[in-house]
Amino acid sequence: MSGPPTSADTGRGRFITLEGGEGTGKSTQQGRLAAWLRDQGLTVVETREPGGSPGAEQIRDLLVTGEAGRWDAMTETLLHFAARRDHFVRTIQPALAAGTWVVSDRFADSTLAYQGFGHGLGRAPVEALYRLVLDDFTPDLTLILDLPAQAGLDRARQRIGDSGAAEDRYESMDESFHERLYEGFRDIARREPGRCRLIDASGSEDAVAAAIRNAVADRFQDLSP
Ligand code: TMP
Repeated sequence: MSGPPTSADTGRGRFITLEGGEGTGKSTQQGRLAAWLRDQGLTVVETREPGGSPGAEQIRDLLVTGEAGRWDAMTETLLHFAARRDHFVRTIQPALAAGTWVVSDRFADSTLAYQGFGHGLGRAPVEALYRLVLDDFTPDLTLILDLPAQAGLDRARQRIGDSGAAEDRYESMDESFHERLYEGFRDIARREPGRCRLIDASGSEDAVAAAIRNAVADRFQDLSP
């Protein structure tokens, strides 16, 4: 087993995060991973960011709707961390303390990728806010779904076209923003190989689900793929 000491080593529930750009299939894969973990006899909570608690879901509305430029980068980052603090205190921490596994569609790596790299805010303010809000808490495992930005955007914009979704603020940002955050996620994976696994998201849904199960079984060796 590799990686830093985490909640996994203290007999509490474990915290798995799914990360990646637009249209990488995170939400579908979250459902499949949670179902598989339940088949292994575990109790699992599926959650998401921004959101995952009543207060954080209200903040989500401010972030994912409206004009692309409605917030400056720092304000947007503070809103994401405000939502995250509420999500952490009200949902994640109590679940882990009760021995429940938590699978989150996005967490703090999204802030580094989208606001730090995408908006160009940089690493330092995001890391400083992280320490203030979460101290030394980290996911036990982060699965980064890797798909070139344009391919993911095409998928995401197709989905919005089909459903007329109102949550399109980030999808409407320009292509270079999405290229930067794609590189940001790859940089995160390179810097933290103990916590993060890069998952090729270009294959079929089944192939990606299998790669995810392998990564999870490799990290938590009491599970078999
Ligand atoms: P979703 O579409 O995956 O539900 O996420 C909502 C949007 O919020 C998505 O476009 C990415 C963005 N986001 C950030 O920009 N920073 C963050 O910290 C998080 C959690 C999400």
